[in-house]
Amino acid sequence: MPDNKNLIYVNEDKLEFHLTNQEVSYIFRVFEKSKQPEHLYFGKSIQNRPSFDFLIEREPRSSINLNEKDYTSSLEHTKQEYPGFGTTDFRYPAFELEYPEGDRISNFAYDSYVIHEGKPKLEGLPATYTDSAGEAQTLEVILRDAHSNLLISLFYSIFETRSLITRSVKFHNEGKEIVKLNHAMSMSIDFPDDDFDMIHLNGAWARENHVERQPLFKGVQSISSARGASSHMHNPFFALVRPETTERQGDVYGFSLVYSGNHLGQVEVDTYNVTRATMGINPYQFQWKLKPDEAFQTPEVVMVYSATGINGMSQTYHDLYRNRLAREPWKNQTRPILINNWEATYFDFTEDKIMEIAEKAKEAGVELFVLDDGWFGERNDDSSSLGNWTENKVKLPDGIAGLSDKIHKLGLKFGLWFEPEMINKDTPLYQEHPEWVIRMPAKPISYGRNQFVLDFSNPEVVDALFNQMDAILTHGKIDYIKWDMNRYITEPFSTLLPHDRQGELYHRYILGVYSLYERLLDRYPDLLIESCAGGGGRFDPGLLYYAPQAWTSDDTDAVERLKIQYGTSLVYPLSSLGSHVSAVPNHQMGRTTSLDMRSAVAYFGTFGYELDVTKLSEDEMNQIKAQISFFKDNRRLIHEGIFYRLKSPFEGNETAWMVVSQDRKEALIGFYQVLAQPNPSYSRLKLAGLEEDTLYTIDPDGEERYGSDLNTIGLLFSENERQRGHFWSINGKSDFHSWIVKLTAKE
Ligand code: DGJ
Repeated sequence: MPDNKNLIYVNEDKLEFHLTNQEVSYIFRVFEKSKQPEHLYFGKSIQNRPSFDFLIEREPRSSINLNEKDYTSSLEHTKQEYPGFGTTDFRYPAFELEYPEGDRISNFAYDSYVIHEGKPKLEGLPATYTDSAGEAQTLEVILRDAHSNLLISLFYSIFETRSLITRSVKFHNEGKEIVKLNHAMSMSIDFPDDDFDMIHLNGAWARENHVERQPLFKGVQSISSARGASSHMHNPFFALVRPETTERQGDVYGFSLVYSGNHLGQVEVDTYNVTRATMGINPYQFQWKLKPDEAFQTPEVVMVYSATGINGMSQTYHDLYRNRLAREPWKNQTRPILINNWEATYFDFTEDKIMEIAEKAKEAGVELFVLDDGWFGERNDDSSSLGNWTENKVKLPDGIAGLSDKIHKLGLKFGLWFEPEMINKDTPLYQEHPEWVIRMPAKPISYGRNQFVLDFSNPEVVDALFNQMDAILTHGKIDYIKWDMNRYITEPFSTLLPHDRQGELYHRYILGVYSLYERLLDRYPDLLIESCAGGGGRFDPGLLYYAPQAWTSDDTDAVERLKIQYGTSLVYPLSSLGSHVSAVPNHQMGRTTSLDMRSAVAYFGTFGYELDVTKLSEDEMNQIKAQISFFKDNRRLIHEGIFYRLKSPFEGNETAWMVVSQDRKEALIGFYQVLAQPNPSYSRLKLAGLEEDTLYTIDPDGEERYGSDLNTIGLLFSENERQRGHFWSINGKSDFHSWIVKLTAKE
């Protein structure tokens, strides 16, 4: 029995596979009657043993079986790894193929396996990676369909120390005929029971990633997108948790898809209480023609197991996505403090105005100036010029290069907004290539923010956009790009693709987007890209591979941001959460909150400003200077530390979270109260993750407390702490209030 560094055990006789490290075990075997992989276990790490056949459940049932006079060869009653369609399983399959004869019946059987050191790359797709081969191993299990000579490779990777398994699938056509792939999920797993709640993140523009939790019911429940992007509506993530699971305790299985297009996360509970979870490209509106010798690679799913509650799952995702998804040089790096002119000027600016803002921002300590929408073509509102990426000389007489030079001379880095995937009708590009728009020419086209979507499935379109962007980047000395995307795809039709390949459009579109990212980063490897899609409409791990931060939401209101950032943190690290202090009354909510509250929320993200600093009073400028210097002192802790959610904004008036440094010597706590309460009851905020016998100094109090009592008793937020002074006082803290507390270990 080979023992490959103890990450993958294989029982060659029984064809059992056990992927394991100190944290997780993932076990499956080949079912001798069907020759298909049968799932046995996923969860907390267990001891390896010669065989796990005691986990096989084989009840004779009234059902349809593969073999004659055999009552236990039904796939409906077999827990599977990658179920197909057409024989004895009536649940939703993980894949569906359409053969030349027109049937969709698949009979794949185990063929062989290979163990790869490290983690093979996924061609054309973003994925988590290893830094050294010894860090992970990948098991490739190959299944073959004798009838068509098609192969399916199931990839399972396990890292030495992480509590997760990644999965993806590759189809190869080794046959002689074309087959159609109608459905190609990245993974499937059959859990033996259904005692789970499902957690997912849903929302809409300006209220992304709200957390929802519901018990599973018998039948199908799913989250999905069919909009051409991962969407504001459903993030490509869900978790199955035990009903008793909390933030800090209990079993959690997280599923996160490294993909930015149409997705599906589906859970089907059958009437024997088996829970089938699948995730991958949304099969709705998908079809891929696979010619002989061609292959199709699905995106990757990261399956996290946590025995320490939902927060434990998040910490595993955060560490992986910071260190093994984000790429050099931004991998696990702190981010520059930026100022963005969008909410300060919208489309209405001149170079002088921009320079005034930049100068004032520099004075406050900002490091990067970002020029948002409106710098190109004749763009003075949202009806013009997308696709014409040449500078508007009326607003910027010295062009982007001139402005960039001036900004750099101030000692700031310079960033620029693009929306490369979109086009307006009034551009030369549209006049020359109306066929590059996604639409069915013979049918009406719909408008989204007055713009159309370019057909990124067409490599010529990607080339043209690369050339336009490259021209600006070469001359402009651009350090950062904000890559926006403000409308979903409708009338999905590509003039490039033949009629029987239109089902490939959505996926080819996203591959085209990835290829443009890849080409730009090849050419400008130090570029920092922040992705954006009307806020968080494409905040997903696929884009984090190229753009290590994302604009979390167009909603910059501090109170709304509590929910949005809390939900987003379920999967994504703070270093990826774009968060800015904006003006009041807030432009989305009309709400007025203090500068303190706004910064206290924005600290727990990339941090920056999005307001006209030239309009601030001296007192406000001083506050901003203090905030920036505070953030600079603490950003390593915030961007590299371990994040704990303490109080949920979805459950009450108060929200709290904290970050603890990797060495547990420092911590920063954010505590927020939405509405002030009259004569409030006592409240204690239990902290987490502190070293039990370490004595911490508490700033601002100067008090000293042990980690053990802070973890178990917590900080006391009494009336005095809330600084209302006398109970009649109207001068004290009111609605929308925040406290930032810093803990430092005493030497
Ligand atoms: C939508 C983005 O989310 C905003 O931040 C801003 O960049 C606008 N687009 C510009 O049009």
